[in-house]
Amino acid sequence: MDFKSVIDRHGTNSLKWDLFDDDLPMWVADMDFRVAPKIQEAILKRAAHPVYGYTVVPDELFESYISWWDRRYDFKMSREDMAYAIGVMPSISSMIRCLTDEDDEILIQTPVYHVFFYVIEDNNRKVLENELIYENEVYRIDFDDLDEKLSKAKMMILCNPHNPIGKIWSREELDKIEELCKKHDVILISDEIHCDLTDPGVKYNPCDSSDNVITCLSPSKSFNIAGFQSSVVHTRNRELLEKIKNQMHVDNSDSCNVFATAAVIAAYKESEDWLEELKEAIYENKQIVREFIANELPIISLVECDATYLLWLDCSRLNVSSKVLSEFLRQNQGLFLSAGVDFGQCGDNFLRMNIACPEELLKEGLLKLKAGIIALNNIRNF
Ligand SMILES: Cc1ncc(COP(=O)(O)O)c(C=O)c1O
Repeated sequence: MDFKSVIDRHGTNSLKWDLFDDDLPMWVADMDFRVAPKIQEAILKRAAHPVYGYTVVPDELFESYISWWDRRYDFKMSREDMAYAIGVMPSISSMIRCLTDEDDEILIQTPVYHVFFYVIEDNNRKVLENELIYENEVYRIDFDDLDEKLSKAKMMILCNPHNPIGKIWSREELDKIEELCKKHDVILISDEIHCDLTDPGVKYNPCDSSDNVITCLSPSKSFNIAGFQSSVVHTRNRELLEKIKNQMHVDNSDSCNVFATAAVIAAYKESEDWLEELKEAIYENKQIVREFIANELPIISLVECDATYLLWLDCSRLNVSSKVLSEFLRQNQGLFLSAGVDFGQCGDNFLRMNIACPEELLKEGLLKLKAGIIALNNIRNF
């Protein structure tokens, strides 16, 4: 598989490449790699039929999810416990609306995927932050704080594995989270969209789906098909599932795109080898960044991670806010990294870097990062 060639994505209405001119974009979470060949084949085959009317979700799609999680993660699901959605965030938004009330508090563990803040606030609910503890370049959960905050919360949205810190939560940590949610009668949504993208040989732990747990699953990140907008919701709690299905129907977030069906089935049924090679390519990129930082940019450090293609760079020794730093890198070098503060105030000493790109682009990005930091320090020391 070719993970080395640079593909020009300009002119494809790409959020990453067409929204802001001339920047080297290493922010939004999509990959600059060619899709798995079987996915493209399936799309071309479907496109060859000249009618693209409304579509139903075939059982084969659900079966492809069931088989994937069973054989890769020993996680058993049944069709009756699943519902189709047009993406993880639309489904979470619907769940917030039908399972909580206005002004209810919803807990998230910060720093975290920024859209978790928006989806809570845009639905007129309140964000309750359980800040992760950061010590010696490692993150862990503050369980005492979690216990206390959950006593006020109606829902918790877990990021498993966690974006932006790239951490896989252990079985023990997940069990403890589930137990605390049960104790306080809190609905636990586990967003597992990044679950397949782990270091080679490492596996994430699915949240166990006891009856207060809902998992959100999708091939969007793993197979770089976010543009198709497709996911499923899974819970063993049929009462919750019925409410969610009704709400997604009201919100029109349960309809299926004619090409999404073909892409998802081809991903889960025919593209596993591609995914394993992709994981190797991302891991190699991670090593390149690790070495570059150690040798060329020791003023910043890489937070150890075992999942996602998003690296969390500790820039605290630069003594500058992440917004100023990321804006400076854009103006000075045309390099676009995400400001850590976007993921919560406690992320302000960090930048997030997307490394899912050919090595050539990654190296260009690293050189720009170094040049930008030198330029910033020169200006400040002037
Ligand atoms: C943790 C997490 N959840 C959800 C999404 C978006 O999912 P969707 O496009 O299916 O709404 C992202 C995208 O980056 C993400 O990082």
